Amino acid sequence: MHNFIFHNPTRLIMGKGMISELEKEIPADKKIMITFGGGSVKKNGVYEQVKKALANHDTIEFWGIEPNPAIETLRKAIELGKKEKVDFLLAVGGGSVIDGTKLISAGLLYEGDAWDLVVKGSSGKTVPMATVLTLPATGSEMNNGAVISRRETKEKLSFFADFPLFSILDPEVTFSLPPHQIACGLADTFVHVLEQYLTKTGESRVMDRWAEGLLHTIVEIAPLIKENHTDYQLMADFMMSATMALNGFIAMGVTEDWSTHMIGHELTALCGLTHGHTLAIVMPGTMYVLRQQKKAKLLQFGERIFGVVSGTDEMRIDETIRKTEAFFRSLGLTTRLSEENIGIEVIDEIERRFNERNVHYGEDGLVTGSVAREILLHVM
Ligand code: NZQ
Ligand code: ZN
Repeated sequence: MHNFIFHNPTRLIMGKGMISELEKEIPADKKIMITFGGGSVKKNGVYEQVKKALANHDTIEFWGIEPNPAIETLRKAIELGKKEKVDFLLAVGGGSVIDGTKLISAGLLYEGDAWDLVVKGSSGKTVPMATVLTLPATGSEMNNGAVISRRETKEKLSFFADFPLFSILDPEVTFSLPPHQIACGLADTFVHVLEQYLTKTGESRVMDRWAEGLLHTIVEIAPLIKENHTDYQLMADFMMSATMALNGFIAMGVTEDWSTHMIGHELTALCGLTHGHTLAIVMPGTMYVLRQQKKAKLLQFGERIFGVVSGTDEMRIDETIRKTEAFFRSLGLTTRLSEENIGIEVIDEIERRFNERNVHYGEDGLVTGSVAREILLHVM
């Protein structure tokens, strides 16, 4: 186990009807900017619940934070927030609205162009923010990360801001999610766990078992959710899994990877594929190409999650990768680039970008431009 300091300050407020807690959680003297996506919250009753809870607060609204939030949109929110002297932000939506709001929270206290903060990778001071989560997937509701896109240059980069002060998770608000978003959310959650688990063995039994607990939960609930995504207990478990998968709880003292995410971000930036979907395509390729480095953990993962115990080590690893891909397909996602009409020119561009940035992703720094190419060729 490596040395670590663990701190997660976000208050988690969970359960049916808990959006009404907003009234007590946000101080009455704050000037609040509420941020939204494209309007799903108006159809499922979330907007009304939020407005009712904040009826006695001073609020303004900013609409239109799109999936894979764009700096071009967020600059407008920052301008409005500065003009209105906003001193509290409430993000109501999925990971994109929350991530975008994290950038707004930094941009409000920054003199220059907020894209500078994204490029730098970290924010300075931030305005306090909180969230009402509507889509279980990213864990953004309980972490300090955010991923921002720049349409103009087709870039998508991560940066670190502050944790939300609190996040409200009512499983009922997920009942209106389209099946594709549910599939992508399940895949994203599964891969978040793998990025922190599928590295080295023997670093922490506690982290391994917690990670495996989340993986088992996702494998168990995924087919049931496909049958009925308005079952409260199922969606509550989905929400909890997604939050716990990326709030630091399974990362204490263990080695992390994240190369699948870095390649996935490029696929989204260049081709517009939904985030969780890119991971379902890339992850089996990462497992295959890095099978020697990840050998011991792949064997542990295969045995404990999918019950793969027979054959030679190489046969077991092949079977584990096959079962992982089959799991993603069972969600209703494609797992090959060709199925999404993504060709060699995209692979060339990702390799070029990684070489230009001189990246060395993954737990051993092995994922360079040429290794990313190998991974993507494997999932053509
Ligand atoms: O915009 P609206 O109209 O609200 O519709 C959204 C959007 O079209 C819709 N939606 C959300 N909740 C709904 C709903 N529709 C019906 N009912 C509901 N309850 O779903 C669509 C997708 O929303 P989005 O926020 O884009 O999805 P997600 O939560 O998956 O977020 C994806 C973004 O988060 C980043 C991704 O890269 C991507 O940009 N990530 C952020 C991370 C973090 N901050 O830690 C980590 C992740 O690995 C990820 O990279
Ligand atoms: Zn993710």
